[in-house]
Parts: sequence; structure tokens; C-alpha cells
Amino acid sequence: MEPLFGDDLLGPPAVELPAGAHHVPGWLTMEQQRWIVARFHEWIHGPVPLHSPKIRGHDMSVQTVCLGWHWRPYEYTRNAIDVNGQRVLDFPEWMVRLGRQALIAATGDHDAGASYTPDTALVNYYSDTAKMGMHQDREERSPAPVISLSIGDTCKFRFGNTTNRNKPYHDIDLASGDLFVFGGPARLAYHGVPKIYPQTAPPDCGLASGRLNITLRETGLTG
Ligand code: SIN
Ligand code: MN
Repeated sequence: MEPLFGDDLLGPPAVELPAGAHHVPGWLTMEQQRWIVARFHEWIHGPVPLHSPKIRGHDMSVQTVCLGWHWRPYEYTRNAIDVNGQRVLDFPEWMVRLGRQALIAATGDHDAGASYTPDTALVNYYSDTAKMGMHQDREERSPAPVISLSIGDTCKFRFGNTTNRNKPYHDIDLASGDLFVFGGPARLAYHGVPKIYPQTAPPDCGLASGRLNITLRETGLTG
């Protein structure tokens, strides 16, 4: 009889992430992914269009639209003062529920999930050649975790340390439907997207090309 657990079934070892970081592959169903992509196509009709934020005078290769609060380097405002001055769309209630469910799925911590109240989403669209340099998410005053959802093409996601942009870091593939959470001791870890793998999106995820990433955050801001 063929052994069921032969050596040929041993895949690469599971990646052990820093404490506070969690990767849940395939967390969103295809139906949920398509539904979120349909909302994305609504958001980019305004009042604030999809745009490339400027960093030190250069356009980022990523295109962004924000909900709840508008982010530009390195500040949150209610109005998109670097784009067209319009107030961004309200943060949708369903995204609060999504954030809570995501946090519970990633950490198993129901209390943390129940009290998580994200109030901004940075929605980033990556074309085949777009990248994002290593950075920290540090414009928020709340220490609550960042929830990241990916749809479309797979990317190489680099998740580093809290001290600088260099090693040690982990390179992880984030595929369509994946959830990534960083909180606690990993909340201020440097991270970035060095590469998109073109044409790797599942055909039924709703996105014809490129990659969509949505990060939910608690800003800790009022007003
Ligand atoms: C971000 O750091 O804001 C986005 C990360 C990603 O695209 O996965
Ligand atoms: Mn970030």
C-alpha cells in the first residue's frame, strides 16, 4: 500500500512571522472578492478620483483612493487637499464588520475583534509595474492593528523589522483573497511591495488585471 504521508508531500516549511503578524491565505471567498471589486469601481467615481500620491515630489506608482480619512504623505485629512479638495467618502459600516471578522480570523482574539473600530481604508491599485517602498504605517494615533486584504494579481510582500528598512525581513506572496494583519509588537514594522506577478489573478476574482490592496486602520483622530 502507498503510504499516505510520503516525503513527496512535504512542502516548503511554514513561514514563521514576527509576533503580532498573521497571514491567512485565501480568507476572502471569490464572491466577496468580486463584491469588493464592484465597490472599488464605485469609489473611484469620486468625489475623489483614483490618484497617485506624491512622495518627495514624485508620483507614487501605486494609485489610491481613501475612505473615511484621506491619506497623503504623511498626514490624514478629511478633504483630499492634494487632489481636488473634496471630502472623501464615509467609511462604510460593512468595513467595520469586515475588519472585526478579519482580526478574529487572524488572531482568534474575540475581545480585540469586538473593540476594533477602523475608521479609514487606503485602497491601493497596483498595475503590473507598480511597487511600494519599505515604510512604516505611523500616521495613526491608535495602536490598533492594520488589516490588509489583497485581490487580483499575487505580489511579493516584504515584511520587515521595526528598526529599519533592511534585513531581517520576510518575503511572502500575497495572493487574491489573502488577509494579512500586523499589530502589537509588529504594528510599526517596515513593509513594502517590491513586485507584482502579472496575470496571476484568478479569472473570477473580479479584477481583470493588476492588484487591489485595502488596508483598514484606526486613525485615533476625531473631527
Ligand atoms: C500598504 O503598505 O499600505 C500597502 C501594502 C500592500 O499593498 O500589501
Ligand atoms: Mn503600509
